[in-house]
Amino acid sequence: MLQVEGLGKRYGTVPVFGGVGFALARGEFVALVGESGVGKSTLLNCIAGLDGADTGRIVVDGIEVTRADEQARARLRRVQLGFVFQAFHVLPHLSVAENVALPLLLQGRPDAARVQAMLEGVGLAALGERYPAQLSGGELQRVAIARACVHRPRLILADEPTGNLDPASAARVLALLHAQVRQAGAACLLVTHSQAATLRADRVLRLTAAGVEPAPAGLQAPSATPR
Ligand SMILES: Nc1ncnc2c1ncn2[C@@H]1O[C@H](COP(=O)(O)OP(=O)(O)OP(=O)(O)O)[C@@H](O)[C@H]1O
Ligand SMILES: [Mg+2]
Repeated sequence: MLQVEGLGKRYGTVPVFGGVGFALARGEFVALVGESGVGKSTLLNCIAGLDGADTGRIVVDGIEVTRADEQARARLRRVQLGFVFQAFHVLPHLSVAENVALPLLLQGRPDAARVQAMLEGVGLAALGERYPAQLSGGELQRVAIARACVHRPRLILADEPTGNLDPASAARVLALLHAQVRQAGAACLLVTHSQAATLRADRVLRLTAAGVEPAPAGLQAPSATPR
């Protein structure tokens, strides 16, 4: 579902990372860890075609993001991708339910029952009519997660989606992401600092300036398969 090969990124003359290579198969739930500032959010932005890489290649569901034009990248984000941004990017003038419904509307296939099911999945069933300014940080984060999954994307990119959540809400969100991966045959790349999240992943990768490597055993679930 995702191939990243020899990816390198600089901002001006300052290198962020280089030699980044890994792949995600359909049905895989992979966590990505790494120090603050190492480039995890930058890597997700490159995969989503929101930022350009300097070297290397990214292929999402057969589409070469690193060669696609802006129109093809926008279509990829609308159809194949679900993105949970570190800074939420929830639209303030839309209600919670309208925010979650947006990806379906952009594809011309509204589905109120699906929206309500997603709100239930993240524990916000009663808050659909509220506006973002009336929500807590953790509730906003869950709106962003419901919106990222509502259109059944093939690849979910989630940037610290449980960072503001209490353990029960975090577990619910991880279960929702897992369900998308297992039932809908999606793949998920989850950036996280939380061990509770890495322990639920099929594999844990660590990003460094020099590339991607398997994370230390303590972060991996005992049954995780090293590759
Ligand atoms: N637009 C930009 N221009 C210049 N430098 C940038 C820009 N965006 C990010 N950076 C730098 O690139 C590096 C990687 O940033 P990034 O946000 O990807 O890190 P991160 O691994 O997601 O960190 P965190 O765990 O704190 O979220 C950082 O040193 C950051 O300061
Ligand atoms: Mg980040």
